[in-house]
Amino acid sequence: MVVPDSQDNMFYPPLDLQQKAHVQDFETYLELYKKSIENPDAFWKEVAAEFFWKKPATGPTLRYNFDLTKGSVFVKCLEGAKTNVCHNVLDRHVNEGNLGEKVAYYWEGNSPDQHAEITYSHLLSRVCGCANVLKKLGVKKGDRVSIYLPMVPELVYSMLACARVGAVHSVVFAGFSSESLCERITDAQSSVLITADGVYRGEKLINLKQIVDEALARCRERGCSSVTKCLVVKHPALRTKTGASCHKLQTPWDRSRDLWWDEAMRDSPDQCEPEWMDSEDPLFILYTSGSTGKPKGVVHTVAGYLLYTYLTFKYVFDHHPGDVFWCTADIGWITGHSYITYGPLANGATSVLFEGVPTYPHVGRFWEIIQKYKVSKFYTAPTAIRLLMKYGREPLQKFDLSSLRVLGSVGEPINPEAWLWYHSVVGQSRCPVVDTFWQTETGGHVLTPLPAATPLKPGSATFPFFGVEPSVLNEHGEELQGEAEGYLVFRRPWPGIMRTLHKNQEGFENTYFRKFPGFYVTGDGCRRDKDGYYWITGRIDDMLNVSGHLLSTSEVEGALTQHPGVAEAAVVGRPHQVKGECLHCFVSLKGNTEFTLGLVQELKTLVREKIGPIATPDFIQNAPALPKTRSGKILRRVLRQIARNDRDLGDLSTLADPKVVELLFNQRNEA
Ligand code: WT7
Repeated sequence: MVVPDSQDNMFYPPLDLQQKAHVQDFETYLELYKKSIENPDAFWKEVAAEFFWKKPATGPTLRYNFDLTKGSVFVKCLEGAKTNVCHNVLDRHVNEGNLGEKVAYYWEGNSPDQHAEITYSHLLSRVCGCANVLKKLGVKKGDRVSIYLPMVPELVYSMLACARVGAVHSVVFAGFSSESLCERITDAQSSVLITADGVYRGEKLINLKQIVDEALARCRERGCSSVTKCLVVKHPALRTKTGASCHKLQTPWDRSRDLWWDEAMRDSPDQCEPEWMDSEDPLFILYTSGSTGKPKGVVHTVAGYLLYTYLTFKYVFDHHPGDVFWCTADIGWITGHSYITYGPLANGATSVLFEGVPTYPHVGRFWEIIQKYKVSKFYTAPTAIRLLMKYGREPLQKFDLSSLRVLGSVGEPINPEAWLWYHSVVGQSRCPVVDTFWQTETGGHVLTPLPAATPLKPGSATFPFFGVEPSVLNEHGEELQGEAEGYLVFRRPWPGIMRTLHKNQEGFENTYFRKFPGFYVTGDGCRRDKDGYYWITGRIDDMLNVSGHLLSTSEVEGALTQHPGVAEAAVVGRPHQVKGECLHCFVSLKGNTEFTLGLVQELKTLVREKIGPIATPDFIQNAPALPKTRSGKILRRVLRQIARNDRDLGDLSTLADPKVVELLFNQRNEA
């Protein structure tokens, strides 16, 4: 890598940002990067020195095998060390850093009249209270705790309480269906589940406890009765100031299993000695869609994840003490784990914790919150940007956005049009846009600009973060040099990379390391341009990215074929103005079933119920037959073209029956 030549299409870091930045120019980035690659041990040991270690490491920062042909794949970071993540992100700041009175979170509810300030010392005392409740419920080191909560402070308390007692949290996004929740509880064999009675999302009231009870009933039917206790938060929006309930939800209750959070916390002591964990003990499991249709339980461990989320947060958002950081993701996704919970707290930062949606009660909600808390670093997804772009500049002009310094993007490739709007309208051409490429599996950013150092090209995630060594491979696994396009892989681990899939080391090795021995395979395609910039071209497996969320086509197909009238289903992605991609489903019906609007509705509902609202198909079309090869393989490439109404079909010679294509183009209009 070299300092890129000055070009018209590039955006350079603003001088005032550079003056105080951790990494002030591209040369400094290159130097630090070189050090991180040539001497990773020295590089990461300096980072580790920022933290508290009950026992220091005896091993190197990273010991690993990435090459399946040489044996099992493993990554170990700072072996022999003992520490506790919760202690490092809370006690360390309160006791040694004098940050007790500093605000850790500004909580902003769904409705603007719901808000709260949570200082570091308050956070610590609530976390300890919760940790003691968990202990009382019998939770021990290594036990799994499932968390199905909306974006309330109790979500952060619960995660950190788990970290404190050494339990492994498994946060399940509270927009997932009871089926998805059940699947994740069963795989993790959690003993405790933490949830809330309900939540408002925009104007809609959702009965979470009802969904939880359905999930637990399903678990029992399938022989999983691991959950013995369910802790239920009373959502503040469902109560008046005096605590009386002001909603019409029926909260189902099992007295032998369910406890109210506030009652359990009332006499729980607010001090709790942390459990000292081995550096490679698991910190959490987070499920992500797998191309087989079964969600994969990605496992992250204590020391490496702490170091990596700490450092990426510090450098990628160029964090400084007076900052107010806001990541709009839900903690149910990795973005929230790394950049709402762990990364910001490890840095002693102040963040906004937002429960609501971008358009309620008005389409200027994001801009209102930026003004209200003087947000300086703002991190959101391209889908949100494209949604808000539609309303033009007017909603932004009502608010003062002059506090903003750095803007971030995550979740999917950002199209240059959205990038430019984000930069010029939201950032008033003053703020660099850091397009951060990463995955649930990578734990933190792996390809990303540094805001004061990297000249930006709209749509490119630019260069690797410290310690990350990307490579571009062709179909035969050969490394391509210079300008190239192919598979994006990494040739060595960094501290924050996943360690395994929960109870499925074999699946871990097959999914990420089998195809190209010696490399971690991301599943994304990428292009490296003449200046060495990386451009993500999207997934190259059977995964779709809808509004920044990965979905597996086979999981949706599995849901569709559960309908008694459906014989076969094939699902492909199709470009969507706001969501990036949306689902276009081809369904072949059984002989006696008719394709009607009613059926389409039923199928949409079925997918929502099986997976969750994010997976709701936009298009369902009748497919009397599917384009197949003679060996019966569905040609998805052809279906993708049909979904896009693009007749540039290329070679169709492998099709068993080419007439199917014309038939599907004709049926398409009815979708
Ligand atoms: C997939 C990972 C990482 C947190 C959110 C998603 C896509 C993510 C970018 C980006 C282009 C991106 C990739 C990746 N992706 N960020 N900046 N540019 N694509 O986590 O659910 O594990 O999804 O999201 O396809 O593989 P995830």
